[in-house]
Order: sequence, then structure tokens, then C-alpha cells
Amino acid sequence: RSPRVVFSGIQPTGIPHLGNYLGALSNWVKLQKSSAPEDELLFSIVGWHALTLPQDPAALLAARRDMLAVILAIGIDPNRSIVFHQDHNPNHTELCWILNCITPMGKLRRMTTWKSRLAASRNAGSESEVDESLLNAGLFTYPVLQAADVLAYRATHVPVGEDQQQHLELTRDLADIFNRTFKAPSPMFPLPLYVSTKCAQAPSKRILSLKDPTSKMSKSSPDIQSRILLTDTAAHIKAKIRAAVTDSIQGITYDPVSRPGTSNLLTILAACSDSDVTEVARLYENKGHGHLKSDVADAVEELLKGPRAEFERIRHETQYLADVAARGAERARLRSEETLGEVRKRIGL
Ligand code: ADP
Ligand code: NA
Repeated sequence: RSPRVVFSGIQPTGIPHLGNYLGALSNWVKLQKSSAPEDELLFSIVGWHALTLPQDPAALLAARRDMLAVILAIGIDPNRSIVFHQDHNPNHTELCWILNCITPMGKLRRMTTWKSRLAASRNAGSESEVDESLLNAGLFTYPVLQAADVLAYRATHVPVGEDQQQHLELTRDLADIFNRTFKAPSPMFPLPLYVSTKCAQAPSKRILSLKDPTSKMSKSSPDIQSRILLTDTAAHIKAKIRAAVTDSIQGITYDPVSRPGTSNLLTILAACSDSDVTEVARLYENKGHGHLKSDVADAVEELLKGPRAEFERIRHETQYLADVAARGAERARLRSEETLGEVRKRIGL
């Protein structure tokens, strides 16, 4: 097959939770493992995206560094893959501006992420009044920045969560608009393909909150018991799983609609062991929730203990982290300069 250029990014939003790990980060490692030698892999911590929401500067700085340590701790090899901070490579913002100028406003208005921001900013009960202090232009145009992240490397494959699929559609649209507007001699950008990063074994696609299994596990929940962090100890994991909301039905069955909490535990167990969730469910048919929870806690501990220990080690190696970031930035800049040089020429700059 022809060589792939894989690009993926993650926001520096503190220590990732189990949902981030199973739904996104662990797939990066799998992709790295299954890549052909001639494939290129780029993994970026997208600090500029984080600025669309208010950030505490000191916390942002720490979160950027921690996310780099996490990426290395889970097994991304900075010699194999280009690992870098987005905000270290100004080619992203230059390309973003150029793409902004060919992006139809209507396409951005149709982004569901924008629509939900807009809805959240409406004054209670009012359909028309928008509290503009809750909106900024970055929130509106950040899908274009995402497109620039991908297109700066002429990426061919983009592993992202399902929630990002619409943004990748926009990326393809913008690549196509650019290709048609600035033709010769050959299309500038390949149309990047979506690579699903859903938990392969989870038909539900999402790891759910341990406390409210009708919503996804998320860092935005104020209840810290609702999620397992990559840094949680075995004791934390046990306590959180034991307290997970399930149901009072006898026996264990996989039934995400009427038994979301129980099914979520089965999903986690299946994802941890890379096995099929219905097969896992069959093993617990005649067992109780206590038994299931105990096995889930063990499986999660088994999954996280390696990355957790590596993270605790690497996060204190500030010089190593700074070196990795600097080298990643240099490689990313050089690599994207090939694209930007050609883009500037085509548009007359
Ligand atoms: P959060 O919802 O905690 O804010 P993000 O939106 O920052 O997480 O998502 C980062 C990545 O992790 C995305 O690729 C997203 O699809 C994935 N992800 C987030 N939460 C989950 C979850 N509960 N289950 C599976 N994947 C998830
Ligand atoms: Na989110």
C-alpha cells in the first residue's frame, strides 16, 4: 500500500481519563505498532485549541507538559513518531488563516460543536438572545485550525473520536476547495480519511460515567468519582469501580439500553482485554455485580499500571521532556514547511 501520513491531536486538558485512553490515546499506540516503516506519524498536543475556553496560564503550562509525558508514558516513541506541541509550529496558524479565507461561514455555522456552544450561550428560555460574552471567534473557527493541523502535513489518515467526524468532513471539504481553486500542476492536498478510534470492542463506542451511565465519562463532570484517571492508584480504581452505579437486576447481561451501568462495566472489561463484549458478558451470566466489579478493577489496574509508573517517572524528567518537545517542534516545522512553501506559491504569496 502507499505510505500513510497519520495525524492526530489531543488537547492539553489535564490527566486523561479511562475514556480518553481507551477511546483515543491507546489507538495511537496501536497505529504506531501496526504502521509500515515508510508511514509517517504525527501526534500533537493542541494548545491553541485549548485557548477557545478560558485557561489559567500556569495550569495550561503544566497541562501541556503533563500531556507530553502521558503520550510518552503510554508508548509513543518520539524517535518513530513526530511528537510536538502545536503551538510550537506557526505553520499551523498561517495555514489556518489561508483556509479561513476559503471557508464558507455557513459550513462553520453547521458544526454541531458550534451549535451546542451557541445553544449554551442563549439566555435561559430565550431562543434569540445570545450571551456574547460566552462566545469568541476562536470557538467559531477552531474547526478550521483543526483542518490546518491535518493539511499542514498533507495527512492521509486521521484517527479521531466519532465526535470529531464532522470536523474531518470540513477538513476534506476545505482540501477540496483549495485543490479546485488553486489547481495546477496536481491536487495540493489528499483528502484525509477518517480512522475510527472507538473502543474496538465497545459497540456503545463510549466509556460512560461511573456515576451517571447515561452520559459519557468526561473530565467536565464535577464528580471525580465518575471517572478513572491515568494516575489513579489501584486503591482509587477499586473504590471507584466498587461505587459505580449499576442496577439491582440479578445476573449479568449486556444490555446497554436498559442496563447502561452494568453494560459499561462489561465494555470496560472487554476493552481492557481486547475481547468481544458479548463473549465477556457470557462469562458473567450467572455471577453478581460484586464479582464483575472486582474483575473490572483488576483489569483496569493491569491496563494502567505500566503507563502510570512511566508517567510518574517521565513527568519529573523536565530536561528530557523539553528536549523531546524541541526536537518534535523542529521536525514538525521542517515537515510542514514543504506544504506551506507550495501553498504560498500557489496562492501568490
Ligand atoms: P472529555 O469529554 O473528557 O472532555 P475530550 O473531548 O477532550 O474528552 O476528548 C479527547 C479524546 O478522547 C477524543 O478523541 C474523544 O473522542 C475521546 N473520548 C473522550 N471521552 C471519551 C469516552 N468517555 N469514551 C471514549 N472516548 C472518549
Ligand atoms: Na469534551
